[in-house]
Amino acid sequence: MPNPSLLILPGDGIGPEVMAEVRKIIDWMGDNRGLVFDVTEDLVGGCAYDKHGTPLTDATMEQAQKVDAVLLGAVGGPKYDDLDFSVKPERGLLRLRKEMDLFANLRPAQCFDALADFSSLKRDVVAGLDIVIVRELTSGIYFGEPRGIIEEGNERVGINTQRYTESEIERVCRSAFELAMKRSKKLCSMEKANVMESGVLWRQVATEVGRDYPEVELSHMYADNGAMQLVRKPKQFDVIVTDNLFGDLLSDAAAMLTGSLGMLPSASLGAPMENGRPKALYEPVHGSAPDIAGQGKANPIACILSFAMALRYSFDRGDDALAVEGAVEAVLAQGLRTADLLGEDGTDAVTTSEMGDAIVAALGAS
Ligand code: NAD
Ligand code: IPM
Ligand code: MN
Repeated sequence: MPNPSLLILPGDGIGPEVMAEVRKIIDWMGDNRGLVFDVTEDLVGGCAYDKHGTPLTDATMEQAQKVDAVLLGAVGGPKYDDLDFSVKPERGLLRLRKEMDLFANLRPAQCFDALADFSSLKRDVVAGLDIVIVRELTSGIYFGEPRGIIEEGNERVGINTQRYTESEIERVCRSAFELAMKRSKKLCSMEKANVMESGVLWRQVATEVGRDYPEVELSHMYADNGAMQLVRKPKQFDVIVTDNLFGDLLSDAAAMLTGSLGMLPSASLGAPMENGRPKALYEPVHGSAPDIAGQGKANPIACILSFAMALRYSFDRGDDALAVEGAVEAVLAQGLRTADLLGEDGTDAVTTSEMGDAIVAALGAS
């Protein structure tokens, strides 16, 4: 059997900093669990643009299609803000998602006990929270045509189009129902069927798919109410399924239920490959955090937990995934905090690399 293959794309800003900590976990798995990966590393985002004039080369895209899983850090930064859309760093990530057809983006938000006082919400509201947002990732307003900035009369008009086909809604809803079946059999679908036709269709299709999952209790909610309910009483939810843009917003909001955006991992999954595992890319929910890049302040946990999701979904190593998650929990219980988890008073903060080392040490002790 050949080694499982990984393509690592650290990207920009804090991406390489947090990925360096994931590398330590990967090495630990090789040394201690006999799980040796064939790792290739490449550029994506602004750094790829700097070198090649494009945020993702065709060669990197080809490699992403070939490997068992892709791990991505983050892309983007102020240096690239004024670039044409066709070569923006974010475009590299969007191309990976689209061409790999990674339609189901799982964004778990779990509040570790040790962090229940670190959320901006009250402890009771978030303690024990464990929800998953399933975000549609390859369609909707991110990709709909027409788009652009045009001249109309004597002014400019910015245009984006929200567009969903029935099959696009169906497949992501099916993923969400499957996940709900493995959890508490409760699924809430969020759209704006009160003002958008795409929302009306979304609600109809979610209901139709639900007929195949009679055990799952399906509810529907307008996404604006959903945002409010997420901060009012997040534990009423278990799995949430929603479109590309609403999922982007709701998952950043959900991050604060866990203490920090630096805690939220994600798995972007597509159709099964020949080996039966889904085509997959794993990345933290956060971005390149230009405000703290290069200072050793980034929290590597979101990226490390994304790798744990890779162990679970791409490599059938659920036990090792649990070991990594347990090690994260253990270091948090010991009181280790990167600056994002300490608010204004960051004096006792550990660095990105100290956090990574502590997680590796906790793995060794497990
Ligand atoms: P961001 O997620 O990069 O940062 C938002 C805030 O959260 C910042 O204050 C940042 O310091 C903090 N933060 C984020 N991750 C952290 C971590 N691991 N540890 C500690 N603090 C963390 O969002 P932004 O500032 O709106 O965007 C910056 C750039 O990142 C933009 O170019 C944007 O397009 C890009 N972006 C990329 C991705 C991705 O690659 N998946 C996701 C979101 C944003
Ligand atoms: C995310 C990011 C991306 C998105 C950007 C960088 C394209 O915000 O992964 O949440 O909007 O999907
Ligand atoms: Mn986002």
